Parts: sequence; C-alpha cells; structure tokens
Amino acid sequence: MRAAVIRKIGEEKVEILDNVGIADTGPGQVRIRIKATGVCHSDLSVTNGTIPQATPCVLGHEGAGEIVEVGEGVTDLQAGDHAIVCWNPPCGKCVACLNGHPNVCTAVSMTQGYMPRFEVDGMPAFGGMGCGTFAEEAVIPVQAAVKIPQDVPFDVASLIGCGVMTGVGAVINTAKVKAGSSVVVFGCGGVGIATIQGARLAGAAEIVAIDPVESKRELAQKFGATHAFAPDEIFEAIGAVTGGVGFDYAFEAVGLPSTIRGAYDAVCRGGTAVIVGAGKSDQKVEFNAFELFFMEKKLMGSFYGSADVRVDFAKMIRLWRAGRLDLESMITQRLGLDGINQAFDDMKAGRVVRTLIEL
Ligand SMILES: NC(=O)c1ccc[n+]([C@@H]2O[C@H](COP(=O)([O-])OP(=O)(O)OC[C@H]3O[C@@H](n4cnc5c(N)ncnc54)[C@H](O)[C@@H]3O)[C@@H](O)[C@H]2O)c1
Ligand SMILES: [Zn+2]
Ligand SMILES: [Zn+2]
Repeated sequence: MRAAVIRKIGEEKVEILDNVGIADTGPGQVRIRIKATGVCHSDLSVTNGTIPQATPCVLGHEGAGEIVEVGEGVTDLQAGDHAIVCWNPPCGKCVACLNGHPNVCTAVSMTQGYMPRFEVDGMPAFGGMGCGTFAEEAVIPVQAAVKIPQDVPFDVASLIGCGVMTGVGAVINTAKVKAGSSVVVFGCGGVGIATIQGARLAGAAEIVAIDPVESKRELAQKFGATHAFAPDEIFEAIGAVTGGVGFDYAFEAVGLPSTIRGAYDAVCRGGTAVIVGAGKSDQKVEFNAFELFFMEKKLMGSFYGSADVRVDFAKMIRLWRAGRLDLESMITQRLGLDGINQAFDDMKAGRVVRTLIEL
C-alpha cells in the first residue's frame, strides 16, 4: 500500500512509497482504512528529532477512517465503524487513568502502541507517534480508535484527533479559562487557531493572537481573536489590551524557548501560562528563583489538551455540530498523499493552518 515514510531522523524529504507492508491485525488491535489526515507540526518535529521516534517510520498521527478488520478479543468496534485515531490512547486501568489523567497514560502507547506494524523494504517499520496515518491503512491498538457517528465527515474528524483536541482542551481542560478573562495565544497554526476557538467558547473577553505571519493574524480574527499583533509588538499588546497589567492567560503554541518565556512574561501576577508547543529537550528556558514565587504565575504544561479522548472527542463533535467550533475553515489546503513534502514546506513558511491529506 501507499504510505509516507522516513527511513531515518533528519532526512530532508519524506518518501511516498507504493509497496509498504502492514502487519496482521493482532489481538486487541484494529485495522483502519485512513480516509483523511491532517498535517500537524508534530509530524515535522518527528522528522527532525524534536519528538523522539523509532525509524523507519510511517508518519502521521492526526487521522480518521473506517475500521476494516478487528483482531481477536475486540468487542467494542466492528468493521464498518468510523473512528478517530488517538496518538496517546488511555488503557483505562493504570494509576494515571484512574487518577483523572488518561492523557498521560503510557500503558498502551509505550508497549503495544510502539511496536512496528508496517514493513518498508522487508524491514519492520514504526507508526509515527504510534499511529502512521500517512498511509492507506494502519493497524492500531483498539484503545487508539475512538468510534464516532457515521455522519461526521472524515476531514473534520481527523483534525479532532490532534490539533483541535490539543488547542481547545488546553483552554477548557488544562487552564479552565473563566468567562470574562483576557487571553493571549502565541502561534496561529492549527493548534493556536483551535486554542483561539477554545478561548471564544470559554467566554474570554479579549483574545489576542500573536504570529509573525500577517495572513495568520488576519485569519485568527475570523476564528475569534479580538486583536492580533506581531511577536515584536507584544508589549504594545499588553499595554493596549490589559492596560499594562498582563493577560489572565497565555497559551504558547509554537514550541520555542523565546515564546515560552514570552508567554510567562505576558501574564499578570497570579495569571496562568500554558505551554502547548513541543520544543526540543536540549533547549532551555530560564526563570529566576525570585519571580517564580513572587509573581505567583501558574506555569502549566498541556499534553493532548488534558483530554479524556473517550468523552472529549465526542464533546468536540457536539460543539462542531452546534456551530460553536468551525473546523472546516481550519483546513486551508487539501492535497493527496504525494503532497506531504509540500505540506511541510507550506507549514515551515507559515502559509497554512492545516493541510488535509485525503486518501
Ligand atoms: N502539547 C501537545 O500535546 C501538542 C499536540 C499537538 C501539537 N503540539 C505542538 O504545538 C505546536 C504548534 O503546532 P501547529 O500544528 O499549530 O504548528 P504550525 O506550524 O501550524 O503553527 C505554528 C505557528 O507559530 C507561528 N510562529 C512562529 N514563530 C513564532 C513566534 N516567535 N511567535 C508567535 N508565533 C510564531 C508560525 O507562524 C505558525 O503560524 C508545535 O510545537 C506542535 O508540535 C503539541
Ligand atoms: Zn492508563
Ligand atoms: Zn499533532
């Protein structure tokens, strides 16, 4: 079958191969025919080593499709069901799951989820972030296939699998933004735009979009940003929108030390900075030992929107149905599997919110 592959970390271009093999559907697994998959910045970060990944690997983790086969012992799903692929599926039994943090469960993702389930030139190949949605089919653990109603279009469903859940979840689950708050969002890609939509949903009074790309700033305002500024205008933004006090909440959706520090600096004393962007493990962010207690700012990480995908994917669908989340307009480009390299180039240049790959 066709799939987008990298053979090792740091390769310039993704290869689109026609002869990629796929594993048999084992016990507790399902085989899914991928219909649509978004291109998330984390896919790019897998190729350059920012996000650790075993290779060779079929990229892609933001997908949706139709179940074509279920393995032994699978009773919750059957062939013909539609599902969103989840890149960090909860086992439902571990301490993290039972303590209300199913998004950081590692029981499935670190074992079954990271076994090679593809084959490239006779070599076992892994699925990117445990998935591998840049392929016609993928075999995934049953917990990684979250059933959805048949009438939800695959394009909308796929975005919920990462960017939308991550951005909206950061606002409503991680930060629990209060109505009437002031919010600033650094980065207006798919995750940032979803964050802006989440802030609108939560009733934020002011939502400021920060992005170096002018077209992104304009677009952000269509999704609910009340103001938009370039990164070097951040002090102007704090002055104009908060009277110099700082924002109640800042969301960082870029993944750079400068924007992480910038998010911390942009919130008021007692405010909350939420880090969503995925940076490199060798990049450091500095805080002084005085400001951390004195400013009483809350610095929070947000992983997969602090979501319980078993209920929160459905919540995203219901919000989309109710017209409270605009997911169609987040897709600014549609390509086939051959378009992966173009999608990455466009993402690096800040030309797209989300490229959707249709299979
Ligand atoms: N925490 C999680 O669970 C999670 C999940 C998905 C994605 N991510 C991460 O979130 C980040 C965003 O993902 P995306 O798909 O939206 O990426 P993207 O490339 O589509 O968007 C990033 C945006 O940041 C902008 N940007 C660049 N430099 C900036 C700066 N100095 N200040 C403000 N904006 C700047 C770019 O112009 C672009 O619009 C990535 O790091 C991704 O890996 C994290
Ligand atoms: Zn668990
Ligand atoms: Zn992602």
